[in-house]
Amino acid sequence: MTGFGIYIHWPFCRSKCPYCDFVSLPAKDFDFDAWAKAYAANLKAYVRRTANKTVTSIFFGGGTPSLMSGELIYSVIETIRNFWKVSDNVEISAEVNPCSIDREKMTAFQKAGINRLSVGVQSLNDKELKFLGRLHTAEQALNTLKTAQNIFPRVSADFIYALPDQSLSDWKNELSAILNLNLKHLSLYQLTIEEGSFFYKKGISPAEDELAADMFELTDRMTYQAGLERYEVSNHAVAGHECKHNLLYWHGGEWIGIGPAAHGRFTENGRFQATAQSNAPLKWLQCPSGEETVLTPKEKAQELIFMALRTREGIDRNAFVSIIGEPPENFMDAGTLQDYQTDGFLVCDNRGIRATASGIMILNALCRTLIV
Ligand SMILES: C[S@@+](CC[C@H](N)C(=O)[O-])C[C@H]1O[C@@H](n2cnc3c(N)ncnc32)[C@H](O)[C@@H]1O
Ligand code: SF4
Repeated sequence: MTGFGIYIHWPFCRSKCPYCDFVSLPAKDFDFDAWAKAYAANLKAYVRRTANKTVTSIFFGGGTPSLMSGELIYSVIETIRNFWKVSDNVEISAEVNPCSIDREKMTAFQKAGINRLSVGVQSLNDKELKFLGRLHTAEQALNTLKTAQNIFPRVSADFIYALPDQSLSDWKNELSAILNLNLKHLSLYQLTIEEGSFFYKKGISPAEDELAADMFELTDRMTYQAGLERYEVSNHAVAGHECKHNLLYWHGGEWIGIGPAAHGRFTENGRFQATAQSNAPLKWLQCPSGEETVLTPKEKAQELIFMALRTREGIDRNAFVSIIGEPPENFMDAGTLQDYQTDGFLVCDNRGIRATASGIMILNALCRTLIV
């Protein structure tokens, strides 16, 4: 329904940030030729099975893909172009960290085919950046954004709020400064303490729930007033600047996941394939492979409900039926669905089912009792 994407995982960073549990290792030297060969082999393994699909988005995520060379990015995109039909208005994104990208590398990425850059800024405050273990200052990040805006048609930035000592007015001031940057896409994440992270081991806690909820509401209001609507829990964009690739994940689209720890979902002969490449980067480099399972229609439906409710559009009834073959209510507890509508957390109508602003804030809790 919503296109076909290719996710490429680059599993290395300059150093490990203390809050992060993404599959990424600190590293300095890379054998780019070996990575190009491994990515090509991994892509090739999916060609026959997905040859009839047209690629609508490619996403280089990580880790820190700004540590990849322009040649490696070019080689992966060329391999994809050789193997699949690629849509004329394909979105090709790369995640970058200000500490490992300069004008020269941005130009190389742009020439290689990248047309959307997502910059991990995290904060505009040097004290917070230090707390978050970042290797760049706010000024460096701002320079990266300015250069990126001159080179790429689409630029997004990631920020983290609800930090331990952050007040509502701290975040309000920072968000004003962020909105003054005139970016058309922002990913604004509340700090989560992930079990595998250094912050978890240190016993660090994010802002209290009530303050975090106030920050979320403030974020919603200020971004909306600035013309960037929330289109997913943490993502805000000017209309037309939403990330096509991430929308695939949330609306039941298809994609293949290439590289260590990458996951994929695609339909083959009516079956819902779920793929997971093996985690260990250097082992994967020697032998690019992973595991694959077939999701039952019920598992696929549950996943789709959970993902789609994160978005502004929510579950589109017609799209859901065309993927699963049954209406979404068949996978929900009827009494709970009714209660959540009465409580003002969910709206259910002919168009579909979506979360209200107050529902979005407690989405995980809602889904736990709603989905059966
Ligand atoms: C793969 S990283 C982005 C690119 C690059 N690695 C960087 O950090 O600059 C994806 C984003 O996830 C967010 N993130 C990661 N761990 C998080 C956490 N524990 N809480 C909130 N946001 C987190 C950060 O905003 C980060 O930029
Ligand atoms: S936030 Fe980005 S740079 Fe930091 S460890 Fe995670 S993936 Fe690497």
